[in-house]
Amino acid sequence: MSGPVDWWRDAVVYQVYVRSFADSDGDGIGDLPGITARLPHLRDLGVDAVWITPFYTSPQHDHGYDVSDYCDVDPLFGTLADADTLLARAHELGLRVIVDLVPNHTSSQHPWFVEALAAEPGSPARARYLFRTGRGPGGSQPPNNWLSVFGGPAWSRVGETDQWYLHLFDSTQPDLDWRNPEVGDMFAEVLRFWLARGVDGFRVDVAHGLFKEESLRDQERPEVASGHDGANEAREMVERTVGDEPMWDQPEVHEVYRRWHDILDEAGPDRMAVAEAWTQTPESMARFVRPDELDQAFNFSWLLADWSAAAFADVVTGTLAAVDSVGAAPTWVLSNHDVVRHPTRYGGGPRGLARARAATLTMLALPGSSYLYQGEELGLEQVEVSSGHRQDPSWFRTGEPGRDGCRVPMPWGGQTPPFDFGPAGSSPWIPQPEEWASLTVEAQAGDPGSTLEFYRAALAARREHARGLGAEVEVRLDAGDVLELRRGPLTVVLNCGNTPTALPPGEVLLSSAGLRCAGGTTYLPADAAAWLRSAAVQPSSAEL
Ligand code: GLC
Ligand code: MG
Repeated sequence: MSGPVDWWRDAVVYQVYVRSFADSDGDGIGDLPGITARLPHLRDLGVDAVWITPFYTSPQHDHGYDVSDYCDVDPLFGTLADADTLLARAHELGLRVIVDLVPNHTSSQHPWFVEALAAEPGSPARARYLFRTGRGPGGSQPPNNWLSVFGGPAWSRVGETDQWYLHLFDSTQPDLDWRNPEVGDMFAEVLRFWLARGVDGFRVDVAHGLFKEESLRDQERPEVASGHDGANEAREMVERTVGDEPMWDQPEVHEVYRRWHDILDEAGPDRMAVAEAWTQTPESMARFVRPDELDQAFNFSWLLADWSAAAFADVVTGTLAAVDSVGAAPTWVLSNHDVVRHPTRYGGGPRGLARARAATLTMLALPGSSYLYQGEELGLEQVEVSSGHRQDPSWFRTGEPGRDGCRVPMPWGGQTPPFDFGPAGSSPWIPQPEEWASLTVEAQAGDPGSTLEFYRAALAARREHARGLGAEVEVRLDAGDVLELRRGPLTVVLNCGNTPTALPPGEVLLSSAGLRCAGGTTYLPADAAAWLRSAAVQPSSAEL
């Protein structure tokens, strides 16, 4: 692929949730050939790269985040040949491809875990995982008080024995013991396998989790542990890393990323890795992206910020300072497959969508890269999935609705479900709302007021006016809950207040909502953002 070797530093990356993007064979579940066929949508949208969630062999208890073979494709999603075709087609279209890597745990059906269960306590096969002796009479109580992120205890007992194994997520996702060198060696091979097939990068799942404090001591605040399905729950997840929780963000993990950095380098200067690391502060996030570690980390503080100019300003300032201290590029993200979609988080309905568009336009002006989640370009909201259709493991463990509502299959065209997600007559694995008829790609394409055309225009404007502007951002808070961010000649104004605000002088390039002019002044409505170019400053490098 052509382009700069450090392409990720200002890329727009589009996340594809495999099960829910496009279904080529009509089994109701998205697959790799489905993605390949829809890649032109991503090119037309104007993104630079696509991150594809796990498509490896998996019993699908956590929809692929439970991997039983890291170097093969699950038949549900296709074959290795389909993966090669997808990569080739993406590269032809100028799109980079990031695949997901799940190193914290395997599936309980991974050959290693099957072997471990069949082996004796204390055996080398068990030493690849975290088996421990239980507490209390006969070892009938878990070895410590840790709770699973998906609810309930983080330990499961091996039959009636006194042995238990650790799983920070579902019981079908046993945590590996990264203190065992075999584990690191296995993942080094997995990285090389996919790099040799031509992937451009990796998204590292639970990057803050691999190492646990050796003592496996009790955690201090187990009561806030459960939940994994929205901003509040995500906040709780971050809360768990407060202080010195023994299962997250241990210093030893960074040695792993130094090794991976070298493996990526060997494959070429343009290969990257981005960490999913839920950390407490921008500073702890920055530790994952030191020059000899991973390249990027998702900036969840942007996603977690309240709808307030001051909150967004704090995140921008804190993030830029933190990544600058290690020379990394920042990232911005508002939605993914684990959290409530951002129009719904911002209140839902027309107001939630207006705010969502405004927040998106704001982040696209910032230095660094933006990660978009499939369907946000259509303005999709979180769906209330009926309990009979819920499949998130956290729903089964806690009875909480879980994350299925942001994973409803994409509406592409047509008047009724499956909205061209799959062939006519097929039934998507989660039913799509009938109202999505007006939100399909087909329905929105060409309509200048649509969210899809807004995203296309915003991504085009970013290429033209924001790319290459440098990392300096001047952050200003104006009276009335208005945020102004200046980056060279580009200014973005975000109105978090309740009344229209007068825009500063300059040429309006784009706005997330209609503007009003009165008496020579242009007004930005509440819940909206606009990009302006100041007349007096240098043209952007894109124009030179
Ligand atoms: C990450 C993934 C999530 C998954 C979990 C366990 O948080 O994003 O979807 O359930 O890790 O692998
Ligand atoms: Mg399918």
